[in-house]
Amino acid sequence: MGNSVPVWAVVPAAGVGTRMQSDIPKQYLAFQGRTLIEHSLDRLLSHPEIDGAVVVLRQEDTTWEKLAYLAEKPVFTTTGGEERHDSVYSGLTTLQYRFGNDAIALIHDAVRPLVSHQDLSNVIDAARRHSAGAILAAPVTDTLKQQGDNMEIANTLSREGLWRALTPQVFHLQTLLNALKQVIDNNLAITDDAQAVELMGHTPMLVPGDGENLKITSPGDLVLAEGIWLNQRDQQDDE
Ligand code: C5P
Repeated sequence: MGNSVPVWAVVPAAGVGTRMQSDIPKQYLAFQGRTLIEHSLDRLLSHPEIDGAVVVLRQEDTTWEKLAYLAEKPVFTTTGGEERHDSVYSGLTTLQYRFGNDAIALIHDAVRPLVSHQDLSNVIDAARRHSAGAILAAPVTDTLKQQGDNMEIANTLSREGLWRALTPQVFHLQTLLNALKQVIDNNLAITDDAQAVELMGHTPMLVPGDGENLKITSPGDLVLAEGIWLNQRDQQDDE
């Protein structure tokens, strides 16, 4: 993939977020004076290599319009589906409809407002060089235990070579569209976009990313994320 191929962010934001114990879908939770999704989009759209974004919303969403989110780059919306991969697929078809197949799709959860520009540059660069795409990931640092009967430890697993998959995950548009179509047509269960590409026999790259790029899934994450966000801002002020 050459440097001239445009990069578009696809931001799935059609989840309900039951783990947050809140009526508000988690992408709309307040975070440093705005909502999580606005912070995530700001991070993406302020990166010089990202040309625009497609935000994928629930059919019943009434909040997005009210935000009146403003950006200097184009932001389109479309409707998501039952599972996260249905939502991503929907975002990709919107991209394809507008721009054809010659685009790079950068998939980023709406609830990851802390991704750094350095990590974005690294994963975009890797995806441009590797035809199967690339994802940000962080090495597993905790010891892993396998649960046996009655919560007794059955086994201790080696964490060597194990990584936590983060987002963004970046692929050529056509590659991910084909892979997700297979997943949907065959009713497969996947937990990230790279897995769909792996199931097609391709091998996306792991790009070491900052473990602070949290996915906000519980109220405790929000508190932690606020600390990280303030720290990132202070570091930027010092530069
Ligand atoms: O639920 P999970 O933590 O996997 O959600 C990750 C991201 O995927 C969130 O931004 C959520 O809004 C989005 N999502 C979606 N469509 C779904 C489920 C989740 O766009 N059906």
